[in-house]
Amino acid sequence: MVGSSRIPGFYRLTRHERVARLEAAGFVTAEQGALLLASEGAALPFAVADKMIENVVGLFELPIGIGLNFLINGRDYVVPMVVEEPSIVAAVSHAAALVRDAGGFEVVADNSVMTGQIQIVGCSDPAAAMERILAERPRLLALADSLEPGMRARGGGASDLDVRWIRPRDSSASRHRSMLVVHLYFDTRDAMGANLINTICEGLADQLEAISGGQVFLRILSNLADRRRVRARCRLPVANLAWQGFSGTEVADGIVRASEFAECDPYRAATHNKGIMNGIDAVAIATGQDWRAIEAGAHAFVALDGQYGPMARWWLEGEALVGELDIPMAVGIVGGPIRLHPMVKALLSMLRVETAGELGSVLAAVGLAQNLAAIKALGTTGIQRGHMALHARSVAATAGAEGDVVEQIAAQLVAEKCVKVERARELLAMHGLP
Ligand code: MEV
Repeated sequence: MVGSSRIPGFYRLTRHERVARLEAAGFVTAEQGALLLASEGAALPFAVADKMIENVVGLFELPIGIGLNFLINGRDYVVPMVVEEPSIVAAVSHAAALVRDAGGFEVVADNSVMTGQIQIVGCSDPAAAMERILAERPRLLALADSLEPGMRARGGGASDLDVRWIRPRDSSASRHRSMLVVHLYFDTRDAMGANLINTICEGLADQLEAISGGQVFLRILSNLADRRRVRARCRLPVANLAWQGFSGTEVADGIVRASEFAECDPYRAATHNKGIMNGIDAVAIATGQDWRAIEAGAHAFVALDGQYGPMARWWLEGEALVGELDIPMAVGIVGGPIRLHPMVKALLSMLRVETAGELGSVLAAVGLAQNLAAIKALGTTGIQRGHMALHARSVAATAGAEGDVVEQIAAQLVAEKCVKVERARELLAMHGLP
């Protein structure tokens, strides 16, 4: 029986007291409590973690792998990736090597234009209110700039403003009421910009109420940052794709068929895109980005025309296979955890990116490479062969293998085509290991 999850004043307690309260209430055992308290973190001191979020009791560790072979816009990158799933890092490095041999990725990033939304309801004449707001555009943009004065000097600032009139199609049948939504477009340069946009949206509210005669409700950024996109492309000679007994043409055909599948079917598109996000999220986490924002924007963007589709597509052009990924990419290289988290700082500096757009370009190339690796395997040998070989290592470790024994047991599991923890335990026992 566990106690109540209502623990008043939890945030005021020390870390040890917080864990003790969780233990006393039966939510964690003494062993689990000790594990939480043992997580001290050389890379992220507890004192820093305690300032990052609320009610902190411990630190959570994940492996950092390095994606290799990336050549993006003529520049070399080694890419830090934080992820729990085996085979992602190996697969992306393999695909990046293929693209590298063909000249690398070409990526174009938009300016860092974020979208802020201000919802206005209750206008007696929405069409007239809309016109009045648009007529005040220069003044509203100047007001937005004045709320973030440093941004113009850095080459950013308010770039445009739009008004949408959202009306239920058939008002008698809908429970929704009509509203105006002002979109403010603001270039946040090297910042991801969420706080900045929210501040500006809140700062515009009074003026918008006065101009529209309505009432402002929500004032918040949209994660569908479709004016801040990245487009990554690669072009691979079909002949270079020969692999595992498949000809280059067969491999290319498998990849194009996988793309067609994702283009036609949202059930497949979801998995296609999950594979892309395997890479993008891993780099986003390593570099201190809000990866939920990237996910939200990317998924919404590929559903904009009413049918959920793939973030990356592949097709043949003569003797070449061409792949392209096009998604919103709201990332920053200043602010957020980047300022606080020592490991994030180190990993970001490993990338040597100079602008948020450059970081977004790396993320896009990683997403495209991850997709290439996945659908190349899926369209030919299937994913399990390579995956199982790598998965076997974590299975061996789960069974208790340590050091060199991990590789030994993993190799045996693969040879037996039985990548299971029980079998790994049996093999360890046979070798007289715990
Ligand atoms: C697994 O994490 C990702 C894949 O399912 C992606 C895909 O199917 O394209 C392999």
